[in-house]
Amino acid sequence: MQASGQRWDPEDYARNAAFVPELGRPVVELLAPQPGERILDLGCGDGTLTTLLVEAGARVVGVDASPEFVEAARARGIDARLGDARALAFDAEFDAAFSNAALHWMGAPDAVLAGVARALRRGGRFVAEFGGKGNVAAIATALIAVLDARGIEAASRFPWYYPTVGEYEERLRANGFDVERIETFARPTPLPAGMRRWLETFANPFVTGVPKDERAAILDKVTALLAPSLRDDAGNWTGDYVRLRFLARKR
Ligand code: BEZ
Repeated sequence: MQASGQRWDPEDYARNAAFVPELGRPVVELLAPQPGERILDLGCGDGTLTTLLVEAGARVVGVDASPEFVEAARARGIDARLGDARALAFDAEFDAAFSNAALHWMGAPDAVLAGVARALRRGGRFVAEFGGKGNVAAIATALIAVLDARGIEAASRFPWYYPTVGEYEERLRANGFDVERIETFARPTPLPAGMRRWLETFANPFVTGVPKDERAAILDKVTALLAPSLRDDAGNWTGDYVRLRFLARKR
C-alpha cells in the first residue's frame, strides 16, 4: 500500500487492523484461486490474505510499497517484493491479479490498471475490493473540519481514491478489461480498537508535519466529533465504510 505521509507498522497493524484482512475473505472467494495458478497480490500488506492464496495452491507474488510490510510478508514465507503499483514491470505472466483494501491508497488509477493489464495473460482475471465513493466520509469530513479550524489546509492532504462504480468501470474498460461484475455497497465496519487507534493507524497523511502535541489534540477532537454518529451507547465504534468490488478479465 502506498500514499504520501502514510507509515505502516506491521505490529500496530496486527493489533489495530486485523479486521481488514479478515473482512477480505469474500474477495478471496470471488477470486477462487486454483492450484498452480500464478497470482499477483497488489498491495499485499503483511501477507495475511496472501497466505490464503498460497494455501489454495497458487504461486503468488505479493507487491507492496511499504518495506516494513514486505519484510513482514516475507517472514511468512511469501514471495513479497517492494514495488510501486503505478509502475509494475510484469509482462503477461499472471493468471490472475488480486487486491484487497489497497487500491484506494495508490492514486494514479490508470497507471495501476495499465500495469495490472500488462501483468496478466489474455483472459486473466482481476478481482479486487477497495473503498468506493463515500468511504469513511464522516471520518474524512471530521478530519478536514478540525484541521481547517486550526488553519491547516486539509483538502490537499486527502490521501485516498474513492471512485464511483461508473467511473471505475470506465477506467477498467479503457485499460483493456471486460467487466464481468462490479458493485458498491455500504459495509458498516466494527472498529475493535476504537476510533482514536483507527486514526493513529490510518490517518497519518492528514497530520504529517504537525507537532506531536497538536497532533494528539487534533485526533482527540476528531474522535469526539465522531462519537455521536459512529459510537454506540456501549462504547463500540463502527466505521462508515463503502466497498467497491469487481471481477474483470483482460481482453
Ligand atoms: C478502507 O479499507 O476502506 C480504508 C482503510 C483505512 C483508511 C481508509 C480506508
